[in-house]
Amino acid sequence: MIARAATSLRLRALDGLDRLRGRRDPLVPPRRLRGTVGDSDFVATGDAVLALLVSAAGLRPGDRVLDVGCGIGRVARPLARHLSPEGSYEGFDVSAPAVAWCARRYARGHPGFRFTHVDVRNARYNPSGTGSARELRFPYPDAEFDVAAATSVFTHLPADEADRYLAESARVLRPGGRLLATFFLLDGAARRRLAEGTTAIAFPHEHWPAAFADAALPEAAVAYDEAWVRERLGAHGLRVRSEPVRGTWSAGRGGPGFQDALVAERA
Ligand SMILES: C[S@@+](CC[C@H](N)C(=O)[O-])C[C@H]1O[C@@H](n2cnc3c(N)ncnc32)[C@H](O)[C@@H]1O
Repeated sequence: MIARAATSLRLRALDGLDRLRGRRDPLVPPRRLRGTVGDSDFVATGDAVLALLVSAAGLRPGDRVLDVGCGIGRVARPLARHLSPEGSYEGFDVSAPAVAWCARRYARGHPGFRFTHVDVRNARYNPSGTGSARELRFPYPDAEFDVAAATSVFTHLPADEADRYLAESARVLRPGGRLLATFFLLDGAARRRLAEGTTAIAFPHEHWPAAFADAALPEAAVAYDEAWVRERLGAHGLRVRSEPVRGTWSAGRGGPGFQDALVAERA
């Protein structure tokens, strides 16, 4: 309790210092909220996702973009500079504080950006949520988007929810629209490295098609059998565009991201 209060004070003080020094980017959330997206550098990771959206998913400035599980705007921040006035951004998330912070921050100066809270349950991020992600209909019409991003989201969903989110992503993309999604993909090489114990994160609890890092809280980190992901994408009319960009989690392969990134196109 005392330790938590001390940490909170320290983070507030550091944020205050940034403000005083004029170093505060208004689209970078305060440190107390940043913890929810993991340990990576908020700005550098967001910029790397934008680069991938452009190079691998063909994002153009005038596109309509959906950010599935938008969190505290790590992907929205670089998009705010990249998208032109013709472009638009919709983000949704189960975390009410994350969505509230983004909605407040982007309200001024970013008219094409909208954030929506969906109250479905995720044991890690929204344990008191009332709905089920398994049954969620994304709150958008069919064929609404040119590009959808889901970064570090499927890595927190059980298989039935992940399958639903792939189906819904396909539904809201226009024909030819692209989905960029990140996963911990279990192919032969990743499985070998897991067996050797040389990966940056271990998934010892296998429940095909998923494997969990922590059996007590599966949503903390979920890996998927790569063949299953490809099969489900195909079943929902999403064609994998190119080989996944491998992340560094599985023993330093690929990069620059930690997770594996995959781009699929709506048929
Ligand atoms: C590690 S964070 C990543 C956030 C963001 N995509 C990014 O790359 O910064 C995982 C996010 O997924 C959200 N999330 C978890 N379950 C979800 C669900 N069923 N639907 C939408 N978002 C979900 C969490 O609230 C959290 O913001």
